[in-house]
Formats: sequence, structure tokens, C-alpha cells
Amino acid sequence: MEQYVIKGGSPLVGEVEIGGAKNAALAILAAATMTDETVLIENVPDVRDTNVMIQAMESIGVIVERIDRHTVKINASNIRIQTIDDESIKKIRASYYLIGALLGKYNEAEVALPGGCNIGSRPIDLHIKGFRALGAKVEISHGIIIAKAEKLHSGHIYLDKVSVGATINVMMAAVLAEGRTIIENAAKEPHVVDVANFLNRMGASVRGAGTDVIRIKGVPKLHGTDYAIIPDQIEAGTFMFAAAITKGDVTVKNVIPKHLESISSKLLEIGCEIEESDEAVRVVASKRLGHTHVNTLPYPGFPTDMQPQITVALGLSKGTSIVTESLFENRFRYVDELTRMGANIKVEGSVAIIDGVDKYTGASISAPDLRAGAALVLAGLAAEGYTTVEDIKYIERGYEDFDEKLRGLGAMIEKVNTEKEIQRFKLKVV
Ligand code: UD1
Repeated sequence: MEQYVIKGGSPLVGEVEIGGAKNAALAILAAATMTDETVLIENVPDVRDTNVMIQAMESIGVIVERIDRHTVKINASNIRIQTIDDESIKKIRASYYLIGALLGKYNEAEVALPGGCNIGSRPIDLHIKGFRALGAKVEISHGIIIAKAEKLHSGHIYLDKVSVGATINVMMAAVLAEGRTIIENAAKEPHVVDVANFLNRMGASVRGAGTDVIRIKGVPKLHGTDYAIIPDQIEAGTFMFAAAITKGDVTVKNVIPKHLESISSKLLEIGCEIEESDEAVRVVASKRLGHTHVNTLPYPGFPTDMQPQITVALGLSKGTSIVTESLFENRFRYVDELTRMGANIKVEGSVAIIDGVDKYTGASISAPDLRAGAALVLAGLAAEGYTTVEDIKYIERGYEDFDEKLRGLGAMIEKVNTEKEIQRFKLKVV
């Protein structure tokens, strides 16, 4: 089984190019099916989740042509309306974006219920509430969500909880609904804005994305366009924390520093130096990290998708830190693995109390989900000795060439399949 083998202890140093935002790409790919004209999308990350989304689109007759590794041309003029229910689509959470997109375009959609990372119960009641407010009948039958409307109309929707997925999904469906729709308590994440910009480029009229009230004026149809996806905030943040955790000096390039402010400010607080330029952020960690308190919150708060990475960093800091997870109730499952590496962390419900230790020691661990998997790799890079990380399929859902990018910064990490390859790696790096 594929795993990473890591020899820890070297600081990461150098520059790394950040790819397109996975979570924006998933929604934008789905949104591209809302026009019969051709759409060209650039900066699509080549990761498992985006590839599964493309496969699902192809399974209903969307023509997807790969121009190069990160550019796709999409034509959805010949969609066969049928249930989207292949095995792979259930594994990605963002399959739900096909409901909003197809419901908007055809007034009907049938998609298998979403899966995704096991980080807690992940209801879709707010998505359903939004579709119903637009006039759709929605039911769940045999694991499939069926949404249908005679004709979608405008609605006034208050989201009880700030939800990225529900905001984007309802926004997509409302773009082609007659009248003016208002979404209140909307999510403000950079990828919500990116999807709104993309829809507007296709002829939609969406205003206010990036604030908590989004106003949509329905239009009769959308047209083709070219669009480049924004850089991935979480990939960038992960490499920024890689610098902090390994006491390194890393510049993340091709980023929007504004999207990284909550991450940069925590790194500053724990003693890193940060240098920002137009499209890059440099993180230097020259001394032992300090402790802090963190509470994950919707944007512009500290992202839940960076919670495991900051916990791994604080596990090595001086003093006691507290990390509170406010979004997903099951997002500390990786702590047991980190404890095996020598961390001193106690989890009580949604709170982790971290007593910093001087060092981690290498161990055989496995990735419980996407972001925690990446964070455990960072722990391995800082640890004394060798670490193996199993279940890297989770990491590959959202990080393109993770091991290769880390090697570019001087990390000793390799993807291996067998015990023999692990031994070969060990001989090579001693
Ligand atoms: C998206 C991201 C995920 C990130 C999360 C929060 C994608 C594919 N995934 O997930 O990486 O961790 O945003 O930034 O973009 N909720 C409900 N009912 C709903 C929907 C959500 O109660 O109908 C709750 C969730 O349980 C959670 C909170 O709202 O507590 C936020 O979830 P949401 O923003 O919707 O996350 P996702 O869109 O699933």
C-alpha cells in the first residue's frame, strides 16, 4: 500500500508554487455545466477530488477536454439527465454542487448523497432549505437527493449557520431562477467570491459575495467564458506552517496574501517572521515557537482546514496552548497519532489542550483525513528519526505533488509501496 516514508529533522528552505484552490475548483467545475456554451477553466489543481468531479460530469455526458495538466475545456450542451451515482462521487463532499448547478439549469437534479472527509456529521439541511425556498421539491430516497421544480423562483434565505457549501449551492441555483434572491448570513470565504466572479463572467448577476448578504438577480441563461481559479489558501497555509514546524524559511509563491491574513497573524503571534509581497509570503522560523490560543471560525477567522497544522506546530511550542474547533465535532482524531510521536495533547470535546514538548519522535502513523494527514506529514518532517504515514490517499485528495513540493524545499520524503522501498530510502538518506 502506498505510504510516505520521512526522515525528519531538516528545516525546510526555499520557494514553493501554490496551485489553484481545490474547493473553488470543485464548485466552478460544477457551475461550468450551467451553460451550453464552452467554458475554459485554468489553474484547476490536479488532485483526486477535482478528477472525481470531472469523471462524474463526464458520466452524464459533459465533454471535458484537458488542454494541459491544469486547464480544462468544458462543454455541457449534451447532458443526459440521469442520476449521478457512480461509486467515486459518494466519496467527495462537493458532489452536492452538481445539485445546485443542474437544478438551476434543468429544474431537476438527482445526485448520490455526499461523503468526503470523516471529520464529523456533515448535514446538508441548509442546502435543502435553500433549494426549497427557490421553489424546488427535495427528497432523499435510497441515498440519492432528488430535487425538482416546475420552475425555480426567487427566494429570501437566511442560513442558520454560516456554510460555504450551502452558500455556493443556493447561489448557483438562484442564478437562473426568475426574480431577485437574497442569501443572508452567507459564507465569505475567498472561494465563495471566486465562484460568484465565475458565474458573473458567464453572464450571471451576483452582488455582495464576500459579505454576509448576497443578492442575485436571475438571468434567463448563461454563456461561455475563460476563467482562472484563485490560489489555494489551505495549501499555502500548510506550507507556511511547514516552515514554522521545521524551523525553516519558506516562501509560498502565487498566493493572495490577503487570503492568508488569519494564518500569517497566528504565525507572527507564535514568533515567526513574515514578509509579504504582492503574490508571495515568506515565513521564517528561527527560534522555538511560542504558545497561543486558537478558535476556528468561518472566514475571515482562522480556517478549520488549518486546525491540524497549527496544532502540530503548537505541540512543539513553549508553554500551554488551547485550540478550539468550532465547526466540525470530530476533527481531533489525528491527536492519537501525534501522541504516538511524543505530543502531549488532551482533547476534551471540541477543545485541545496542548502542552508543548521539545521534540517529536518518528513513528508509524496513518492519515485519518485530508488536512490532518498533511499535518502529520509535517510532524514527521520535524521529528527525530523515521516516520511512515499510511492512507496517503486522503492527502492526495487535496494536495498536488505534496511529496515532490516538499522535496523541493529539502525534505527527505518519498512515496513508497513496499518494506523493501522503505529500507532503500533509509540507506539513501543516512
Ligand atoms: C467546506 C470545505 C471544507 C471546509 C469547510 C469549512 C469544500 C468542498 N469543503 O465544507 O474543506 O472545512 O467548508 O470551511 O469546499 N452545516 C449544517 N448544515 C448544512 C451545511 C453545513 O449544519 O446544510 C454545518 C456543518 O456541519 C459545519 C458548518 O455548517 O458545522 C460549516 O460547514 P460548511 O461550511 O458547509 O462546510 P462544507 O461546505 O461541507
